[in-house]
Parts: sequence; C-alpha cells; structure tokens
Amino acid sequence: MNPYRKDFPIFDGNDVVYFDNAATTQRPRQVMEAMRAFNDTCNANPLRGLYQWSVEATEAYENARHTVAEFIGARWDCEIIFTRNTTESLNLVAYSYAMSRLEAGDEIVISILEHHSNILPWQMAARARGARLVYMECLPDGTLTEEEIRSKITDRAKIVAIGQVSNVMGVTNPVRLIADIAHEKGAVVVVDGAQSTPHMPVNVQDLGADFFAFSGHKLMGPMGIGVLYGRRDLLEEMPPFLTGGEMIEYVTRESATYAELPAKFEAGTVNAMGAVGLEAAIRYLQGVGFETVMKTEEALTARLIGGMRKIPHVTVYGQEDPARHCGIVTFNIEGCHPHDVSSVLDTERVDIRAGHHCAQPLMKWMGVGSTARASLYFYNTEEEVDRFLDVVSRVRGWLGYGD
Ligand SMILES: Cc1ncc(COP(=O)(O)O)c(C=O)c1O
Repeated sequence: MNPYRKDFPIFDGNDVVYFDNAATTQRPRQVMEAMRAFNDTCNANPLRGLYQWSVEATEAYENARHTVAEFIGARWDCEIIFTRNTTESLNLVAYSYAMSRLEAGDEIVISILEHHSNILPWQMAARARGARLVYMECLPDGTLTEEEIRSKITDRAKIVAIGQVSNVMGVTNPVRLIADIAHEKGAVVVVDGAQSTPHMPVNVQDLGADFFAFSGHKLMGPMGIGVLYGRRDLLEEMPPFLTGGEMIEYVTRESATYAELPAKFEAGTVNAMGAVGLEAAIRYLQGVGFETVMKTEEALTARLIGGMRKIPHVTVYGQEDPARHCGIVTFNIEGCHPHDVSSVLDTERVDIRAGHHCAQPLMKWMGVGSTARASLYFYNTEEEVDRFLDVVSRVRGWLGYGD
C-alpha cells in the first residue's frame, strides 16, 4: 500500500480512483491542521492591526511567503506575490507589465501547447497594444524543437510566455533554452508552472524565469491561493494591477503613492489562511521528497501507458517515454466521445477529466474536439492503475461495440 494515502482523509472508507490530479490535487490532513491552527489561534486581519492576533497572523502570512521563496529559489521574499491562482498571476503580468511596456509591432511569443490561462491574457494585451501574438508549434508528440524556438523568438519579441509542463501532453518544455534565447533578444520570460511545481524541483534562477506562476491547489494546498514570482527590479518598476486598501503608502483626494513590494500587488485583505495552507502543503511535499514523487509517478505512468497500449482502439497522445509525461496521460478511444468515456468510468468510481482541457488551440492542432485525460500523483497506486485499465478495456463494450 502507498504509505502516504493514510494522510488523505478523502480516501478513507471508499474505493474511488482519483485520476484528475492535473485539475486539482487532494489535501493531506496536515494542510487542514495548519489552517485550523491559524483559525483557532490567531485569526485576524493581517498587516493592519497593532494587537497580538493581527501581529501573529502577519507573521504566519510572511513566514508562508518565505517558505514559498525558498521552495522556488527566489532571491528575495518580496519577489513572491500571493494571488488567487496561476490564472490571476499571469493576468497580473499581462495587465501590469505587458500593458505598460508593449508597443505596436512588438511580439509576444507563446506555444501551441498553452493552457487558456497562458493565452487569453496575451491576446488581450496584444490587442490593446497593437502587438502580435506568435505561436511556437510543436512536433506531433508535443516536443518544441530548438529550430522552431529560434525561428519564432526574434528581435521583435518582448515577452515569451511558456508552460513548463503541458497539461495535455505532459511534456516538459526546454524552459532554460527558451529563456536563454529570449534573453539574447531582450525579451522577458514568463513561465506557467501550474503543472510542473507539484511534480519536480523548481528553481526560478536555474530556469531563467523573470516571472513564474503556480497554484496552491495543484500541489495539495487550498484553492484560492496562488503565487506569482517576479524579478524584483521588474516588479518594482511595474504599475499596480489591482488598487485599493493595503497597497498604498499615502492617499490624497486625487492621487496615491503605492506601497513597497510585495504589498503593491496585494490589494485588499489577503488570503492569509490560504497562504498558511500552501506553506503546509509545501512542507508536506518536501517531506515526501521530489525523488519519491517522480519515481512513483514514473512507475505508475509506465504501467498505465503500457496497459493502454495493449487495449485495442486506444490512442495515447504525447511522448513514447512514460517518464516524459509528468503523470499526465491524454487519450481517446475510437468511436467513443471522451464525455461518454468519463461517464462510463464514473459508474465504477474512476475519476478522470474529459473535454478540451482549456487548451482549444492545441485540440484543434491535434485534430480532435476533445480528449480524455488521466493524471496521476504520488499517492496513487498500482491497484488503481489496474482498475482504471480494466474499466477502459470495457468502455467500448458498454457503448455497444462488439469488440
Ligand atoms: C498548464 C496550466 N496553466 C494554468 C492553469 C490554470 O490554473 P488555475 O485554474 O489554478 O488558475 C492550469 C490548470 O489546469 C494548467 O494546467
């Protein structure tokens, strides 16, 4: 049995196979306990009060920021901005950085593999500033080649925004190479780390990321807390995204001066309990260790893909090598709509995702309307993979096919 499962109350007393971890992960009791401790001992509006609970709440919130900074290798705590999620983090960069820097004719380079959260903010900024959105195309298995990267990132590029791991193909993009090329051309690099941060060690310096976004809920933290890392010098020069309480230094009837980092980008009452939960999730993940996470996921993915390849009429997308899937296995079953596949699996309490995975341009490029997707995490088991394979092998029969 997987030794970590006992930490997850949701798995107690049922036999649900939860394979939708790329959408959101389950939370261990340690995360809930940390949030409960905050709630029960020092809940107060942080950063405002001069009394003990508020001071303690502020300390808890800033400790969480420090933990995040260390977790992703930021140089300064003030380079960590708490947001609601990856989507908000990317919007912050688009609204604040892109809208104040881009000029007509500039280019924003992204890839065809991106999630809508790393497409729409750039579409908006490009439209507003008269800039152009340029797509790096991938090979059929999801790989971006150096030739393609070099041909799309030119002197006109001002922003290169790339997902570190695709939520559809599971492929890990060569972010360091992309960053080096982008920096040679004078562009800043924005990395969508939503699918990488839960599964592999991340160091923003080593990656060459100027901005890096991720969500707490995808690494066992609570929903509603996300992170934007930004290089200090860039954040300092950027205008605020949201305005209001907490983010000011001084306000007159007509104008205002803004607070120092990170408060400048954290308008309104912050999600301190969420930050505390995220910190506990990071500590839990560090306790498990990325070596274990990666080894477990790789073994489970190999078993799953190996089994899928033996089932007739199944197409698995992405790389041949299961180690290059980051636990994500996107597939289709000939003649079966992915929604039907998911519904059939649900009748046996096997939870997967079906649809366009917020990546419609990629679906179009793949020549499909939608796909099914199983996504694993280190707390999943071989028995679950075998149950999944058994149900998948019976889907066509359920839907009336004779083979
Ligand atoms: C690659 C990628 N980017 C961004 C997001 C958006 O994350 P959130 O909904 O937490 O903002 C997701 C979520 O599935 C994702 O997979």
